[in-house]
Amino acid sequence: MQNPAKVAVITGAAGGIGRALCQGFIEDGYRIAALDVDAPALSELLAQLGEGHQGFTCDLASETQIVATVAQVAARFGRIDVLVNNAALGPSMAATCDTTLEGFALALAVNTLGPTLMAREAARHMGRGAAVVNVASLAGLLANPKRNAYASSKAALISMTRSLACEWAERGIRVTAVAPGYVLTPMVAGLEQAAKVDLQQVRRRIPMGRLARPDEIAAAVRFLASAEARQVTGSVLPVDGGWACFNQPGDAHPPVASVPDAERHRPQASAAARVVVVSGGGGAASEVIAARFRAQGDTVIVLEPQAEAAVRQAFAVIQRQYGRVDVLINAALLEAPRADHPESLMSTLNRTLTAAFLSIREALNCMPVSGGVVLNIGSLPAGGTVAARQAQAAAWQGSEMLGRCQAAELAAAGVRVVNLAGAAPYPGDIAAAALFLASASASYITGATLYVDGGRSAFANAAQAAIFDDTEVA
Ligand SMILES: NC(=O)c1ccc[n+]([C@@H]2O[C@H](COP(=O)([O-])OP(=O)(O)OC[C@H]3O[C@@H](n4cnc5c(N)ncnc54)[C@H](O)[C@@H]3O)[C@@H](O)[C@H]2O)c1
Repeated sequence: MQNPAKVAVITGAAGGIGRALCQGFIEDGYRIAALDVDAPALSELLAQLGEGHQGFTCDLASETQIVATVAQVAARFGRIDVLVNNAALGPSMAATCDTTLEGFALALAVNTLGPTLMAREAARHMGRGAAVVNVASLAGLLANPKRNAYASSKAALISMTRSLACEWAERGIRVTAVAPGYVLTPMVAGLEQAAKVDLQQVRRRIPMGRLARPDEIAAAVRFLASAEARQVTGSVLPVDGGWACFNQPGDAHPPVASVPDAERHRPQASAAARVVVVSGGGGAASEVIAARFRAQGDTVIVLEPQAEAAVRQAFAVIQRQYGRVDVLINAALLEAPRADHPESLMSTLNRTLTAAFLSIREALNCMPVSGGVVLNIGSLPAGGTVAARQAQAAAWQGSEMLGRCQAAELAAAGVRVVNLAGAAPYPGDIAAAALFLASASASYITGATLYVDGGRSAFANAAQAAIFDDTEVA
């Protein structure tokens, strides 16, 4: 990942997530153009970043300032490879009748128009392989009372993400977003101090039982910005500890007595090789995935589709031989035949969805007390749910929901379940995404779906889509 010439522009750099982004992109070898409206905080940040980086004071509510600042960045660095639109005004938590028009419009100006103008200006200096990552919010996907302006601004930003991804696909510029749940930053600390949020109550509502650390949001952004995600565009990745996949009254996680350690500090990464089972595989695409995990030192076992007794037996043997399963990859959906007759619906569902359920049930007996990962990888029918691919589409929808249900059930036990929707032509890119999702860098991602489809799912009309062209992308 090291490329000292690359430049990342990070807005809201002096905030909680902004600092983690600066640190992370420096680790990836980038020079940083750090933007923030808070000049003293920016100077203090720059002093910590070291040589080769520069700060720019800029108010994202001002188009004039954005145009001038991006021109200064380009003059100073000569290129822009990544733009992370991270700055935002937080939620006011005001009721509708207490919200002024100025306050509402300002949130839209800073949180939606500002990032769009930043992208417009930055794209003038971007080449093929460049990426824009927008830091949206779960509040832009799920409704909440008293978040009117903030939530609307983030939903609009998500829409802009998809629009720009479509528009710039032919230029080889990718546009994606992350949608964080609650993150322990000054923004949230401010809400807690003002008694506008009760964090103990929030932790009980999160299946993982804790808030995210800023570095966990930064890790997702770094992946989306990297060449490993070169077929990911128009995608919005929730990084929310499972919040969005829990739909029950009451607590998603038992109450915790104090602030969990994993919320304050990144746990020590284990260097041990993992035991990875690729279930329902055996085809070319799952072989590519297996090879990628093997290449990084994991022990990989590929199980071909089998009946219940044989699957049970296979996991019993794995448990005896290796002592555990760290990662289960359900690849049956990836290898599913392209059935196109209503009569084939049940057999396709059995070969894919039921097979995935069976593997997860048996693998759970072998997973460690905490830290297990399940990935459901499906191959999306081109153009979405189309009549000619009804069985495949139904299997994918069912499998995605299965993953979400299991994420909600298993988060408290420390097992993450993530769905990966790939497009058939990109097995290497699906493998790269699987590697990230199964890694400690994705530690707050559960119940989410990542689309690795060259932007197909972002296009409203697939027939008119300008398919993302990755020629010459590094
Ligand atoms: N913290 C959370 O729980 C959470 C949850 C979901 C999404 N997010 C999003 O993550 C991003 C970062 O949030 P954070 O928690 O690090 O917040 P933060 O308040 O710690 O940082 C925000 C930064 O943006 C800067 N900023 C604010 N208005 C600006 C403007 N007009 N022009 C330029 N810079 C401006 C601030 O000075 C600050 O440094 C935001 O987009 C936020 O909406 C945060």
